[in-house]
Amino acid sequence: MTAPSPAAVSAALATVIDPELRRPITELAMVGAVDVRPDGSVQVTVLLTVSGCPMKQTLTADVERAVGQVDGVRGVAVDLQVMTKEQRDELKLKLRGPGARRIPFNEPGSLTKVYAVASGKGGVGKSSVTVNLACELARRGLRVGIVDADVHGFSVPGLMGITQAPTQVDEMMLPPVAHGVKVISIGMFVRKNEPVVWRGPMLHRALEQFLTDVYFGDLDVLFLDLPPGTGDIAISVSQLLPSAEILVVTTPQSAAADVAERAGTIATQTGQRIAGVVENMSYLSLPDGTRMEVFGAGGGRTLAGRLSATLDATVPLLGQIPLDVALREGGDAGAPIVLTHPEAESARALAGVAAELGAKPRGLNGRSLGLQPR
Ligand SMILES: Nc1ncnc2c1ncn2[C@@H]1O[C@H](COP(=O)(O)OP(=O)(O)O)[C@@H](O)[C@H]1O
Ligand SMILES: [Mg+2]
Repeated sequence: MTAPSPAAVSAALATVIDPELRRPITELAMVGAVDVRPDGSVQVTVLLTVSGCPMKQTLTADVERAVGQVDGVRGVAVDLQVMTKEQRDELKLKLRGPGARRIPFNEPGSLTKVYAVASGKGGVGKSSVTVNLACELARRGLRVGIVDADVHGFSVPGLMGITQAPTQVDEMMLPPVAHGVKVISIGMFVRKNEPVVWRGPMLHRALEQFLTDVYFGDLDVLFLDLPPGTGDIAISVSQLLPSAEILVVTTPQSAAADVAERAGTIATQTGQRIAGVVENMSYLSLPDGTRMEVFGAGGGRTLAGRLSATLDATVPLLGQIPLDVALREGGDAGAPIVLTHPEAESARALAGVAAELGAKPRGLNGRSLGLQPR
């Protein structure tokens, strides 16, 4: 009987990823004393960020599993303790770097692509499209986050099946993760069915707080689900995240495309780029193979054409998503269709849009690389 090697136990601990921070617990200084005894029993002290940490069961199980696989280990005991204020401060420093509150996505070195998803009116499927694009990109291995900024009509937690609140580490918030996507929503801060009665300046502050105090880590793509129309939040986004590109969602209906155009042309005033147009609810495929154009036809293409002309830049129609009962059911169940039925026509159309967004180079575009002539 050989006693387990402490180095092997350390290596095993380094494979345990904190479910919220998404980094190895060893890097996060979450591992305290490790006691490896000759009889093969191992005791590991794990330091939680906060005492009510909702992930402690997962974390305990993950540590037990990882250490249990080490040669010679015959029992793992996990002792959960809570970080001291100093340890927490050190953790925050490690995660966010030194300095005051700032929006990480605006840092010169940030490579996160930010897409603000806008629509002219509600009910066109803006949130459903956002959630499916995010899940599809996460499925492809990208690091993805969503800020649900639709203050009066937040629906992202429901569409993602999230009931959990963010974990608070002092003034830093750790967003819940679902389907590999980090999500923060106003809906996580108000009581169910209670109306949000905030006005412009408060909305601006709330969005600012989401962008500064929520720890998203290094993301490849961040989606913002904006409220419909051309309200205060759209202006706030342009001020808080000037490099965000706008993704416009419309239905094929000409009236919907008209109001979406207004949402899109805000970009001319704010100087933001429009990444493209997504037409949703484009048609319904009937059992006989024909397509029924429930909401008419052409809205997406017309809108893309008009925005291209107004902005004097190519605004592509990125995809046409058919009506699909399974897409709606997936939304109601918190299980996005791109994950549950990737073969569905609607899922494939959404995946096509995601592929275009994800394939774009990360934000280095148009950025100074800081190169100096010798
Ligand atoms: N392509 C689609 N096929 C079927 N139902 C859809 C589709 N897109 C959205 N829906 C449904 O339409 C409703 C409104 O969608 P939602 O994404 O909440 O819109 P918005 O965010 O623009 O208000 C939801 O019930 C959603 O499930
Ligand atoms: Mg919505």
